[in-house]
Amino acid sequence: MKYLLGIDIGTSGTKTMLFDEAGNGIASATVEYPLYQPQNGWAEQDPADWWNAVTESIAAVTAKCGVGKEDIVSIGLSGQMHGLVLLDEDCNVLRNAILWCDGRTTAQCQEIERRLGREKLIEITANPALEGFTAGKILWVQQNEPEIWAKVRHILLPKDYIRYKLAGTFATDASDASGMQLLHIANRDWSEEVCGALDIDMSLLPKVYESPDVTGNLLPEVAEKVGLCAGIPIAGGGGDNACAAIGTGVCKEGKAFTTIGTSGVVFAHTRDLHIDKQGRIHTFCCAVPGAWHVMGCTLAAGLSLNWFRGQLASEYSYPELDAACDKLPIGADDLIYLPYLMGERSPILDARSRGVFFGLSAIHTKEHMARAVMEGVAYSLYNCLEVLRENDIECSDMAFCGGGAKSDFWRKMFTDVYGVPVKLMQSSEGAVLGAAILGGCAAGVYASVEEGCEKAVRDGASCQPDAAAHEQYMHYYGIYRTLYPALKDAYAKLHP
Ligand code: XUL
Repeated sequence: MKYLLGIDIGTSGTKTMLFDEAGNGIASATVEYPLYQPQNGWAEQDPADWWNAVTESIAAVTAKCGVGKEDIVSIGLSGQMHGLVLLDEDCNVLRNAILWCDGRTTAQCQEIERRLGREKLIEITANPALEGFTAGKILWVQQNEPEIWAKVRHILLPKDYIRYKLAGTFATDASDASGMQLLHIANRDWSEEVCGALDIDMSLLPKVYESPDVTGNLLPEVAEKVGLCAGIPIAGGGGDNACAAIGTGVCKEGKAFTTIGTSGVVFAHTRDLHIDKQGRIHTFCCAVPGAWHVMGCTLAAGLSLNWFRGQLASEYSYPELDAACDKLPIGADDLIYLPYLMGERSPILDARSRGVFFGLSAIHTKEHMARAVMEGVAYSLYNCLEVLRENDIECSDMAFCGGGAKSDFWRKMFTDVYGVPVKLMQSSEGAVLGAAILGGCAAGVYASVEEGCEKAVRDGASCQPDAAAHEQYMHYYGIYRTLYPALKDAYAKLHP
């Protein structure tokens, strides 16, 4: 039996997990790190924290897994998308990474669309300029930190910085590269036209591979430190959502999943390149070579509940909070939450927006507020699902994964809000399993990504929607949909 290591460099922490070829989890370790918010709407992390978390978590897994190191044959990397990591000529990190949920680049996004023309930009990169994507962050550094920009020799995404530390190679994969907004999405390689218009020398960018390709081999000094064999292949891997697709078996038309991590995503595989004309959902290359996906992203999904519990309900564990919320009626006695703590991406595309509790009354308790938070996140992703459907994207086969999938209560809520069956997978891991499967492809354990999914991913229990509950949720969802348009101008005044 061969064993595959998956590593997911997330926003709250890095998870490393060892799987066997059949996708059974053998051992896992998670190491957390801080998120810095130097200003309202900004989000940064220190890449050194990711690297420490990666080495610590691999060492913890190899120490406790009971598997001989010669049987661990590959590494697959998954990571939070879009983050900007800048290295100098000695490969030192030049500043903290600017993350996917950082909204400082509205002016730079307008400038990108001015320089290229919005239509041209969408034709090449399949998406409008969005604050979360990497291109705007690069322009921001060019314009606001010219002394740092002058020293930049390598531009990397979070997991690709880790790849450099593991293997010494500068490489990325087409799924994660899509989120930089510098990639020609149909050709699956960097766009000379976009890079030229944004004054980005293409030699600063890593080489683009497909997700199952070998992109490097583990360096001996790292192997020794973490308890692995030197030279094992490191696969291209993918952005965390593209990896979660593989880990939930979403590698064919008609399949979709919802994941709740720090962000929340609803994602559908597409054989053909499909672009929403209003740019409300993202179109990216997927981890299956030659295919694409569309996805809507709510920035503060798990982040909303984590924030709420941390600030106002820290006496509760998550399961206790679920139990308390379950006692309350649908609609939390007429309290509605807008989950825009970090501004919002899909489908409203407004980095200036912020969170709201609407309808707050003296009868409400913090348990009502917690329930409203969970409902608001579900409404936001349902809104994305509606946009997918409007675009004729088939999503009837819906899986659920990520940290949120640990909550039966939240999954039932999603099922009733969506009004379609939602299934768990036998492994709720999603991204880290997907990364391990891609590693297995690189090591020749699986002949293709599809074969890896067939061998290592299995459906779990399916939850059926309750029609009466769906109707009740739709009453509140109708009100939810009116709130952002009513607040849009006020948001623009609050954060001009
Ligand atoms: C996707 C996105 C987030 C991050 C979170 O576009 O920004 O889902 O990948 O890890």
